[in-house]
Amino acid sequence: MKILGIETSCDETSAAVISDDRHVLSNVISSQIKTHQHYGGIVPEIASRMHAEAMMIVLESALSQAQCTLADIDLLSVTRGPGLIGALMVGVATVKALSFARHIPFVGVHHIEGHIYANELDQTETIVYPALALVISGGHTQLVVLRAYGDYQLLGTTLDDAVGEAFDKTARHLGLGYPGGPAIDLMAKKGDPKRYVFPKTVVPGVYNFSFSGLKTAAIQLAASLDLNGVNSDDPRLWDFVASFQYRIVDTLLAKTIMAAKDFSVKTILLAGGVAANSAIRAAVLTLQEQYHVVVPPMKFCTDNGAMVALAGLYAFLHRGADHYTLAPRANVLLTDQ
Ligand code: KG4
Ligand code: ZN
Repeated sequence: MKILGIETSCDETSAAVISDDRHVLSNVISSQIKTHQHYGGIVPEIASRMHAEAMMIVLESALSQAQCTLADIDLLSVTRGPGLIGALMVGVATVKALSFARHIPFVGVHHIEGHIYANELDQTETIVYPALALVISGGHTQLVVLRAYGDYQLLGTTLDDAVGEAFDKTARHLGLGYPGGPAIDLMAKKGDPKRYVFPKTVVPGVYNFSFSGLKTAAIQLAASLDLNGVNSDDPRLWDFVASFQYRIVDTLLAKTIMAAKDFSVKTILLAGGVAANSAIRAAVLTLQEQYHVVVPPMKFCTDNGAMVALAGLYAFLHRGADHYTLAPRANVLLTDQ
C-alpha cells in the first residue's frame, strides 16, 4: 500500500509518498521562509497564495521521486488542522479533488498527530504505549499521554506563548532573524548557560506551561545589557542565549519527568519543530535509563508530508476514510477530533 501525504498548515508546502511498512519513498518540502523573513514572521495571506502556487509542482516531484504515479496511490492524507485556515484550505481542496478524480480514499489528520508519528518514519522507532509526548512547536507546547493510536489525554498546555514562539520572538529582538530557534540553538553551544539567571514561571495546573514571562524577562534583560542588534561574535550574547535556552530546557524537562512518573509511561517522545533543538534532545535522552526515549529524526522535525502520510495510514486503519464534507479547522485539539 502507498500513501500520499500533503501538508500545508503553515509555511511549508509538502507532499510525500510512503509505503505501509513506514518507508519514506519521497518527501518534498517547499519552504516559504525566505519570503516571510522580510516581515519578521508569517503573513497568512501570503502563505495561502504561495501554497496554491507551489502545490502541484511539489506533488509532481513527490510522485516522480517515489517513481510512481497517482495510479499507484492507495490512500491520500492531508493535514486538516490546526493551522492557518487559508493555508489548510489549499491542502484539503487538493486532496479532495484528487480523491474525486481518481476514486482514491482520503483522510484528514491532526497536525500534531503527524509530528508524533514522525518518530516512526523510516522504521527508525516504534512507539511503545503508554507513551508521553512532549509536543513543542511554533504554535504548541503540550504534554500528552498516548495509550494507543487515537487514545490521547492532554495533560497540559501553554497558557500563553508556545516554546517556539518564545525562541522566535526573543531572537527577533536580538536581531537574530526569523525563525530564531535554530539560530539560538547554534549560538547557545558557545555560551555559558549559568551566566544569567532567568526567572522560573509558576503557572496554575502542574502540567501547564507559560513562556511569555520568560520572553519579556529576556527582552528587558537584553535591553539593559544593550544586546539588541549586537554583533553575533559578542560572547555576552552567546551567554545570554545559552542561559535563556537553559531555562526553557530545564522547565520542559522537569514537567516531562513529573508527568512520566505520574502516568507510569513506558516511552517518552518529542514532537514538533522545536524537537530539532539539540539541548532539548540531549536533555530528554538523559532519561534513557528509566524510559524508552524517542526523538524524531532531524529531517522529519520540520513540517512535512511524510508524517501526515503515516498518521493518515493509522487513521484509515482505525476509522476508515473521510467524506467530502471534511472541513479544515484552524483550531482543533488533538483530543477533540
Ligand atoms: O512544527 P514547526 O515546523 O511549525 C509549527 O507547526 O509551528 O515548528 C517551527 C518552530 C519555529 O518556532 C522554530 O524556531 C522552531 O520550530 N525550531 C527550533 C529549532 N528548529 C526549529 N527551535 C529551537 N531550536 C531549534 N533547533
Ligand atoms: Zn508543525
